[in-house]
Amino acid sequence: MGNEKIVLLSRREIEKMRRAGRLAAKLLDHLAPMVQPGVSTLELNDEAERWTQAHGAKSAPLNYHEFPKSICTSVNHVICHGIPNGKQILKDGDIINIDVTPILDGYHGDSSRTFFVGTPSPVAKKLVEVTEECLRRGIGAVRPGGRIGDIGAAIQEYAEANGFSVVRDFVGHGVHKVFHAPPQIPHYGTRGKGKRLRKGMVFTIEPMINEGTHEAEVLADKWTAITKDRKLSAQFEHTVVVTEDGVEILTLREEDAELKMAS
Ligand code: MF3
Ligand code: CO
Ligand code: CO
Repeated sequence: MGNEKIVLLSRREIEKMRRAGRLAAKLLDHLAPMVQPGVSTLELNDEAERWTQAHGAKSAPLNYHEFPKSICTSVNHVICHGIPNGKQILKDGDIINIDVTPILDGYHGDSSRTFFVGTPSPVAKKLVEVTEECLRRGIGAVRPGGRIGDIGAAIQEYAEANGFSVVRDFVGHGVHKVFHAPPQIPHYGTRGKGKRLRKGMVFTIEPMINEGTHEAEVLADKWTAITKDRKLSAQFEHTVVVTEDGVEILTLREEDAELKMAS
């Protein structure tokens, strides 16, 4: 994958990515109020699938390399790729990452957020807040002429300064008509290293930050990735495009995107 060509998207293709990205943001907004004690991760999945179809889109995860559901739901010590399940009931104090990827008009909008179920513990609250700030800082490091390593360095510095660790085994990725395309975007690294960022490159930044060790294990279901020490893991993800003078987040609601432009 490392040597495959990185696609640069045209204005027309970026507009399609924007439409898919906005739909991902709206889907997460739609699911957010459902995140309550007593709800199962399968209920979240089924509502996501229904809503996605009703909006003329498809769920990329469903049947992707045999992934069996429409979204990923990763609770507490699950790092990523948690499989929705009717027997998994959310309870007060849990954290849950919901990762959605609708395909609209052939293009993928890939985004995730970590939500609190009821009232979080102090460490859960800090981990989730630090992880969201890691994503913000990673995005802030993107500019044409910069390097992929700038992104990971910004994320790793902030996570580790707060006493947390950065997952190595899963990385961000190019995304367009193809769900997982080159380049890989590690959430750790060295400023000034790695491939150069160019206008029109579209990729995700999706830091997974752990309370304890960065080490991961994958369960027998071949998908669910968990922390080796069973401590908490949080994640936030946006799809972004490198612009003429910086970066645009594609997985924002239209209103939020306009606010960003104005600021
Ligand atoms: N949406 C995930 C990502 O951010 C990928 C999920 S692949 C699946 O890259 F098969 F697990 F759905
Ligand atoms: Co995702
Ligand atoms: Co992704």
